[in-house]
Amino acid sequence: MQPQKPTVLVTGGAGYIGSHAVDQLKQAGYHVVVLDNLVYGHRDLVETVLNVDLIVGDISDRALLDQVFQDYSVAAVIHFAAYAYVGESATNPAKYYRNNVSGTLTLLEAMVAAGVKRLVFSSTCATYGVPQEIPIPENHPQAPINAYGQTKLMVETILKDFDSAYGLKSICFRYFNAAGADPQGRLGEDHNPETHLIPLALMTALGRRESLSIFGTDYPTDDGTCIRDYIHVCDLADAHILGLEHLLKGGDSDIFNLGNGGGFSVRQVIEATERVTGRPVPAVECDRRPGDPPALVGSGQKAAAVLGWDPKYPDLDDMIRHAWQWHQVRHGSLSSVS
Ligand SMILES: NC(=O)c1ccc[n+]([C@@H]2O[C@H](COP(=O)([O-])OP(=O)(O)OC[C@H]3O[C@@H](n4cnc5c(N)ncnc54)[C@H](O)[C@@H]3O)[C@@H](O)[C@H]2O)c1
Repeated sequence: MQPQKPTVLVTGGAGYIGSHAVDQLKQAGYHVVVLDNLVYGHRDLVETVLNVDLIVGDISDRALLDQVFQDYSVAAVIHFAAYAYVGESATNPAKYYRNNVSGTLTLLEAMVAAGVKRLVFSSTCATYGVPQEIPIPENHPQAPINAYGQTKLMVETILKDFDSAYGLKSICFRYFNAAGADPQGRLGEDHNPETHLIPLALMTALGRRESLSIFGTDYPTDDGTCIRDYIHVCDLADAHILGLEHLLKGGDSDIFNLGNGGGFSVRQVIEATERVTGRPVPAVECDRRPGDPPALVGSGQKAAAVLGWDPKYPDLDDMIRHAWQWHQVRHGSLSSVS
């Protein structure tokens, strides 16, 4: 019999990206424990679809963390738990600093106390701010333009200091825009409120929204709309397994972009959504939103070279097709996907 791989604690494992990572960890043979306060996560995905242990609780609860590290022999933590609404972080920054920074600090202190010294962290391209070059490399200056990006940059800084002080090794992944869903339609994006372009376009195609807003049509891009780099959520999950294995093999701390090195404009996403769904996506042209750079595209070359990351689904139509299957099952009329 194949020996069971180590136990991995996944914070935020009931959320969008976390649930896909849990699925792949399980398939790779890891024992997975999810810690999620369910503020945005979905119990049914963890308990019914993924069928792993779910601890409903908060990363800022030190007593709970100590208990979890006592109950489970955790080899590493993959840390997705955070608040991630950029707009809300501007109007309610305290909520973001408290959860994303202070909460993470509590988690890290509990890890050090328990002797758990490996962490994979969800950082973001929002730590770069307005890019000076495209595609953005990892050594690009970091100058976040919102509190959300600041919180993630602060955690990156804390992680460097925890490595120096306590030997806590970490992999920081700076994701660009997560998109798509489990190709089998069992897992997917279900944010409330939803702010991401592809699910909003799909909800419009499903008739659950009247129209989709295009914020800015006069950017210096080919069609005047913003360009973003979309990464399939399963490719993100793959990278987490590679990052985890790098650390479990004794690898050093490192930082990687997770981007496809290309991007798609808002209009291209709308066209692709109409093509994939065969339904119209009525759009309304609106003013630019403050703080939206014209293009955000990240180079994933370092993750490919160092970790062997090889995204399987860089094609936009694949991402939208998989998300469309999920949206129909979750919000539409289909009961299953063949
Ligand atoms: N979705 C993206 O495109 C994207 C891009 C860059 C970075 N990220 C980062 O990736 C991570 C996951 O994003 P997502 O889109 O899956 O978000 P999500 O909201 O779907 O998942 C986050 C999960 O964390 C849980 N959570 C939040 N605060 C918690 C706390 N204090 N204690 C316990 N659980 C808590 C939520 O209930 C939720 O289930 C986040 O850290 C986010 O900042 C996401």
